[in-house]
Amino acid sequence: MSDNNTVTLTFSDGRPSIELPMLDSTLGKQVVDVRPLAAQGIYTLDPGFTATASCESSISYIDGEQGLLSHRGYTIEDLAYKSDFMEVCYLLLYGELPTAEQKQHFSYMINHHSMLHDQMDNVFRGFRRSAHPMALMIGVTGAMSAFYPEAQEVFDPRSREISAHRLLAKIPTVAAWAYKYTRGEPFMYPQNKLGYAENFLYMMHATPCESYEVKPVLARALDRIFILHADHEQNASTSTVRLAGSSGATPFACMAAGMASLWGPLHGGANEAVLKMLEEIGDVKRIPDFIARAKDKSTGFRLMGFGHRIYKNFDPRANVIRETAHEVLDELDMHDDPQFRIALELERIALEDDYFIQKKLYPNVDFYSGIVFRALGIPAAMFTPIFALARTAGWVAQWSEMLSDPAHKIGRPRQRYTGPQLREFVPVEKRGV
Ligand code: CMC
Repeated sequence: MSDNNTVTLTFSDGRPSIELPMLDSTLGKQVVDVRPLAAQGIYTLDPGFTATASCESSISYIDGEQGLLSHRGYTIEDLAYKSDFMEVCYLLLYGELPTAEQKQHFSYMINHHSMLHDQMDNVFRGFRRSAHPMALMIGVTGAMSAFYPEAQEVFDPRSREISAHRLLAKIPTVAAWAYKYTRGEPFMYPQNKLGYAENFLYMMHATPCESYEVKPVLARALDRIFILHADHEQNASTSTVRLAGSSGATPFACMAAGMASLWGPLHGGANEAVLKMLEEIGDVKRIPDFIARAKDKSTGFRLMGFGHRIYKNFDPRANVIRETAHEVLDELDMHDDPQFRIALELERIALEDDYFIQKKLYPNVDFYSGIVFRALGIPAAMFTPIFALARTAGWVAQWSEMLSDPAHKIGRPRQRYTGPQLREFVPVEKRGV
């Protein structure tokens, strides 16, 4: 790198070298601007985007070495302990924390738009009862495009704002109803008098024959989990939302695309996989076997809830959620929860093991979230839908940020072609003779 912050690309075949600008970030590393390469017919190769910034964004920042996550400049710890999910949604969307008046107005509006169009019942009813709730969420969220055709005006800021509000308001209802549907229970309508997390727990757990009182400490724990999952820079699902949205697609279809990406076990599906793994381990005595399996590549088994592409020290969300797990288990008098004990012991053993130390594999956000969910009476199949519900805040903020950028372009990666050379077409009757 030269002094004036450019990087020089030289070629061994004698072609003239190319100067590429280095761009500053407000926090963290500079990035090499490789855009001038396209005009020269040169492309970069980076499967999995390990070294490629796909966009400029002012929403979230992660420093993986320091275990730092911040949204709009506020650390995740400050937001998790001092704020609430509605404020964080506002912050992600509008860039600043709301004043008391703005917060009241925003929360009121989100609360008062949580009902689904009555005909959306039919969309749910088209699914098999045995479907995974994520399958329902993806289908129903995509189908919302049919109910709000005006949302197609994605280059109009006001239209984007209305879509953002609709999504934040209605996705909890979609998630809770997906659960009710798979249980064969009647849908419970949202209650405007309840807070965001409280309302979600109510819609999941209440039935028409029995009212359900939400314990404030549990609603607060869920609200904190929503905050921890609200946004996370350019992860797989957020990048999916951006790529889908870059063509001008309707926001509901883009969110459904994000949910599809999130569902995979290497991403948002990991929390469900952690709980299955803890159940499979069953006893602290069996932990060493599972650690050995995770270290043996031939088994294809990974310790779920461990490791992260960016965090190489610790995942700050995992620390908050471990503490939240303690609080919730204390409140419910579940200190002896066997899975929590297995999780704590698994974490202890793995963190002392050379394999995990050398590869910098630490517990991630999914490691403890399942335990909190289970204590809240939420079944494993709903873990990823809840992640999707919370991440909708980040997806919609990132989608809107992308479309508000005057330099916006459709996303269109290049490739390194490794197929056959051009060849002559042979008619079917002449093939193989
Ligand atoms: N257990 C055992 N070995 C692991 C694990 C694990 N959980 N994670 C990574 N490794 C090994 C991996 O085998 C590889 O070894 P080697 O260098 O010898 O080939 C090395 O560590 C690097 O792994 P990688 O797959 O190249 O790293 P990545 O950055 O591509 O993957 C990850 C990150 C999160 C997909 C991966 O750590 C993983 O599969 N973890 C388990 C699934 C999980 O908990 N996912 C939730 C992520 S956090 C929430 C979210 O993003 O949604």
